[in-house]
Amino acid sequence: MKYHIIAFGCQMNISDSERVSTILEKLKYKKTSNINEANLIVVVMCSVRQSAVDRVHGLAHKFKKLNPKIKTILTGCVLQKDRKKFENSFDYVIDIKNISELFKIARQQVSQDPRRRASMAAAKRRGAPRTEQVRAGGRSVSAETWLPSSYLDITPKYSNKFSATVPIMTGCNNFCSYCVVPYTRGREISRPAKEIICEIKNLVKNDYKEIWLLGQNVNSYKDGKTNFPKLLKMVNNIPGNFTLCFITSHPKDFSDELIKTMKNCKKLSKRLNLPIQSGDDEILKKMNRPYTVAQYKTLVKKIRKAIPDISLSTDIIVGFCGETKKQFQNTVKTLKEIGFDMAFVNKYSPRAGTAAAKMEDNVPWAEKKRREKVLIELINEK
Ligand code: 5AD
Ligand code: SF4
Repeated sequence: MKYHIIAFGCQMNISDSERVSTILEKLKYKKTSNINEANLIVVVMCSVRQSAVDRVHGLAHKFKKLNPKIKTILTGCVLQKDRKKFENSFDYVIDIKNISELFKIARQQVSQDPRRRASMAAAKRRGAPRTEQVRAGGRSVSAETWLPSSYLDITPKYSNKFSATVPIMTGCNNFCSYCVVPYTRGREISRPAKEIICEIKNLVKNDYKEIWLLGQNVNSYKDGKTNFPKLLKMVNNIPGNFTLCFITSHPKDFSDELIKTMKNCKKLSKRLNLPIQSGDDEILKKMNRPYTVAQYKTLVKKIRKAIPDISLSTDIIVGFCGETKKQFQNTVKTLKEIGFDMAFVNKYSPRAGTAAAKMEDNVPWAEKKRREKVLIELINEK
């Protein structure tokens, strides 16, 4: 049996797709890059912008046309309102945290494979175990015994031999007014520090040179007394030659303790993504981002003072509800003043169910595109 996997969106989705691969490969599926020879296709989708959702709609039709017998699974960030429609075009739509469901579906398909049926029948005749066996900790155990209770505890099938992503938390409690993440991924859940350290030690042992700690808001990581700076110190103390990176941070949770820790952690990369989203105080308020431009600038000053050679990137949304030309100019001005090394510019895309969906999306698309171009040119001037 072969599977093909497609992941859209952020690094968290890519990391999730690596965990999906682990499950499928434990059930002896083989990965294929050729859709035509796949028995199963898994799409890990992103709902942050409508364009990403539209792309998945197009894909679902393509798969079924290609091969009506192919089984299709949709997972990742799926909005409730899109779910019904996707249930018509995909065979299964499942919550990424619900790994036992994915496991069940995949195993059912495997058990219907004529070759697998024949080998199970032969195993029965030999008196060998009739349940699906997987290798874990150097032993052969039944597949159910191996399945961890939390999806984050599955060791991913890392898709890169040099750099690995390690989720430390998932979900978000911030409810920025434009964002679907708190609805698609739910509230924040932090992984036990012990598990994280164990995974990273293994990666370092296997010669990984770049470790990315992942989370929608890594700064609010909490496992008992271990907060994010303490976790960074623990990872930094793991012996070995590797670089440590993290993504992404909310300015409101960027503490002095974190800045001091960053300064002292020798393995920490000198790159930081700190999304500002807008350079206008009124827009920030409407976005439910609880800081002002002045506070953001003070924070950047502190970070640069502690780590002078830091390379700073940011995320910006242009054309948010009611953003006037003057407010956009404030963003241009702020960008010039701060002098980011990189900026990821997004045109505002209304998302059903969010607080901003109730506000008027009154900046025309062409104007959003114009504003996006202005910022991209500004950043490229650097
Ligand atoms: N429209 C446009 N951009 C968005 N982002 C999040 N939600 C939206 C939306 N509705 C952007 C933010 C965030 C990045 C991951 O995606 O800038 O930081
Ligand atoms: Fe979305 Fe805001 Fe949470 Fe980031 S901090 S995931 S933008 S709600």
